[in-house]
Amino acid sequence: MNILVTGGAGFIGSHTLIELYKAGHTAVVVDNLDNSNPEALRRVAEIIGIPEVPFHKVDIRDREGLERVFAAQKFDACIHFAGLKSVGESVEKPWEYYENNIGGTLVLVDVMRRHGCKNIIFSSSATIYGDPAEIPITENCPKGQCTNPYGWTKSMLEQVLMDIQKADPEWNVVLLRYFNPVGAHPSGRIGENPNGIPNNLMPYITQVAVGKRQELGVFGNDYPTPDGTGVRDYIHVVDLAGAHVCALKAIERKCGLGVYNVGTGHGYSVLDMVKAFVRVNGVDVPYSIKPRRAGDIATCYCNPAKAKAELGWEAKYGIDEMVRDSWNWQRQNPEGF
Ligand code: NAD
Ligand code: UD1
Repeated sequence: MNILVTGGAGFIGSHTLIELYKAGHTAVVVDNLDNSNPEALRRVAEIIGIPEVPFHKVDIRDREGLERVFAAQKFDACIHFAGLKSVGESVEKPWEYYENNIGGTLVLVDVMRRHGCKNIIFSSSATIYGDPAEIPITENCPKGQCTNPYGWTKSMLEQVLMDIQKADPEWNVVLLRYFNPVGAHPSGRIGENPNGIPNNLMPYITQVAVGKRQELGVFGNDYPTPDGTGVRDYIHVVDLAGAHVCALKAIERKCGLGVYNVGTGHGYSVLDMVKAFVRVNGVDVPYSIKPRRAGDIATCYCNPAKAKAELGWEAKYGIDEMVRDSWNWQRQNPEGF
């Protein structure tokens, strides 16, 4: 299939491009480079072994720009990664988050349908479950109260896409609810490249390990978890990328609406991650216990059985590969791209 990949220069998008080509698909990237570097696409091309990844520097809110991309070629499906994703920033700038994520998706979906492309895979998030009503989280778990505008954009966009699919069954919509993506391509050539101080755990750990930050602050050790620190379902980004290839097969089978948790089903605490990182990589990660971070929950991990049963997808990599590949990327690229 020929796939439009919005946000393809970003962390998850760049890794997904590699899996798409490996599976025999072709891809065209649309990205405004707001949170990414074109060097990522150059390195993706190098890994795949093609001269370049077709790329348009277009903002998905720019209807005319998107029209030009769609007029130039036919797409069989869109994998829609483009969006702003910083939780804290979304609290400071809610309008910008709603306008970019929701406004952008509405323009994208309209241009898609006008060009007869009614297949979309959407990057949703475990955050839509809020403080989850059940652990492990199945897809039947009710959506919850999000604690920030970023989370609401995901929750609302799920609803928008479900309603569009319901009204027009020609649409195939796959909502992938990612748990906590970490790791990097095993080559170490591409990886997560956050701007400024990382908000998420793994890039913070790798920046401490590489000497860019003094110590990790562990946000709370008084949660009702085995060691008191927060428990999450970390998933290797290469596994996550593979889930999109499986979702495309579901689209080829005309799946209608599909909603899937994409995680490993294992919960690891903050200290589990730190200890695994130190053990596997043989580097030190100094840390100290800090107060809880506002909006955090104690435990979040999924039951990924539905993705296995219906998409034939399951995670292959464990915690050791996650911490190894995160470090391999950071070590080789201390300043990112
Ligand atoms: P990322 O920031 O690395 O990639 C997103 C890409 O979208 C960036 O390259 C950015 O420049 C681009 N973009 C943003 N707004 C755009 C616009 N209006 N037009 C065109 N391009 C635009 O983020 P990521 O970690 O690769 O996440 C990809 C998707 O997955 C996002 O939608 C994110 O919300 C979602 N997600 C991420 C995580 C995570 O922990 N990384 C977890 C759950 C869901
Ligand atoms: C965060 C987002 C969530 C998003 C997800 C994936 C928040 C409140 N939530 O989830 O919306 O879907 O990323 O992108 O930001 N931790 C530390 N020290 C740090 C960083 C994190 O102890 O410096 C802890 C956290 O308290 C948490 C765990 O590590 O227990 C994971 O944190 P993080 O990587 O930010 O992901 P989430 O909070 O799960």
